Amino acid sequence: MYLVGVDGSEDVLVGMDGSEGVLVGVEGSEDVLVGVDGSENVLVGVESSEDVFGRSCPLETQTKMWETVAMVTLATVCAVTIIMCVFGHVYRLRSRKVFSTASMQGKTVIITGASAGIGKATAFDLAQRKARLILACRNIKKASYVAAEIQSSTGNSAVEVRQLDTSSLASVRAFASRILAEEHRIDVLVLNAGIGGKNVRTLTSEGLETTMATNHFGHFLLTNLLLGLLKESAPSRIVVTASMAHTLLTSLNLKELNFENAKYWSLQAYAQSKLCNILFARYLAHLLKDTGVVVNSLCPGLVATEIFEKGEGFAVKVYGFLAQYVGKTCEQGAQTIIQLTVAEETQNITGEFFENCQVSDGATNLAIDDGLAKKVWEASELLVGLDPTEQHY
Ligand SMILES: NC(=O)c1ccc[n+]([C@@H]2O[C@H](COP(=O)([O-])OP(=O)(O)OC[C@H]3O[C@@H](n4cnc5c(N)ncnc54)[C@H](OP(=O)(O)O)[C@@H]3O)[C@@H](O)[C@H]2O)c1
Repeated sequence: MYLVGVDGSEDVLVGMDGSEGVLVGVEGSEDVLVGVDGSENVLVGVESSEDVFGRSCPLETQTKMWETVAMVTLATVCAVTIIMCVFGHVYRLRSRKVFSTASMQGKTVIITGASAGIGKATAFDLAQRKARLILACRNIKKASYVAAEIQSSTGNSAVEVRQLDTSSLASVRAFASRILAEEHRIDVLVLNAGIGGKNVRTLTSEGLETTMATNHFGHFLLTNLLLGLLKESAPSRIVVTASMAHTLLTSLNLKELNFENAKYWSLQAYAQSKLCNILFARYLAHLLKDTGVVVNSLCPGLVATEIFEKGEGFAVKVYGFLAQYVGKTCEQGAQTIIQLTVAEETQNITGEFFENCQVSDGATNLAIDDGLAKKVWEASELLVGLDPTEQHY
């Protein structure tokens, strides 16, 4: 804006004041940018300090320097893109598939968060296996489109949508009451709904931190309310979608599950909710030993879904960017849930954390700490207000 520029000759810079040979800086003061110092080729620079612009630097050299910088930047971007594409290709190739062809005819499956992503892909697969599906979703209109899509493409008309907002304990109670009133059995309960974490700490109307409420507390309450029917329906299964994001945590402060005083950031809230998913599944499996109800948690892997668009915070967006290049498809991401829902070889496994269709050794020490699992269970019971009459374990 302030520099008029080269006046035709390559050597002379013309300043704002029109005088040749002088570069006039902002404010017109020669102290800011002194400009050409008498010899027509040399820029003296800020405060006349030769460290900044002091050395003789012809325009040609500067142009070459910027060309080099641009080339190196371009080459780096290309190299990173190629590496990410190759890595993504290999990652997707290594994604295991469910080999079981088990039919789910006559079985009722509830899936939370089936209106998008991994839950929707799971619903598609189970509908093909002739399961009777209840899509437990917060957005009825969106879920109804999904149900219609599944019905028309699989020919399975037994796909229903029911209202459930897992972040609301009242909604969870209403949903569970209706299920208990209308259903005779639940063969599989898939706890899959989730959000990526809010940018700033927000509370639900019941005073729970929203990420924890959506991903953990709602599912905790729901499972407890349906546990009697799940036990009556045995052999039955509970499948909990957790995440390897739990490995981001090195400790869990049980007094701060809702981040009342602890520092909050979105990825930590997400990681904590996913750690609670694993610990909850682990302790529930212990409580349900020998009841015929098996409980396992899983990580679907990095999957390109809406969760990153809906999630807030820089880290969530970075993961979203990576997921686009290296992430699995939703169908691939759903495989471990399907494995735990239908496969014969998983029907007697309980209390484990799965990844890529097999038991994982990737759970951290925190996630396999049975003492901590019990404490998370007890804290969760208090926070959701579980009545002793609602304890069916
Ligand atoms: N994508 C990954 O890389 C990844 C990795 C590890 C674990 N996971 C886990 O996988 C699960 C599914 O996520 P996704 O990646 O498939 O994401 P997604 O495409 O955003 O699907 C999430 C589902 O949860 C629903 N949901 C969100 N908040 C809800 C609430 N309050 N009540 C009821 N339903 C709610 C969404 O409903 P709407 O359609 O109305 O939004 C949607 O159906 C999550 O538990 C997530 O933590 C994902």
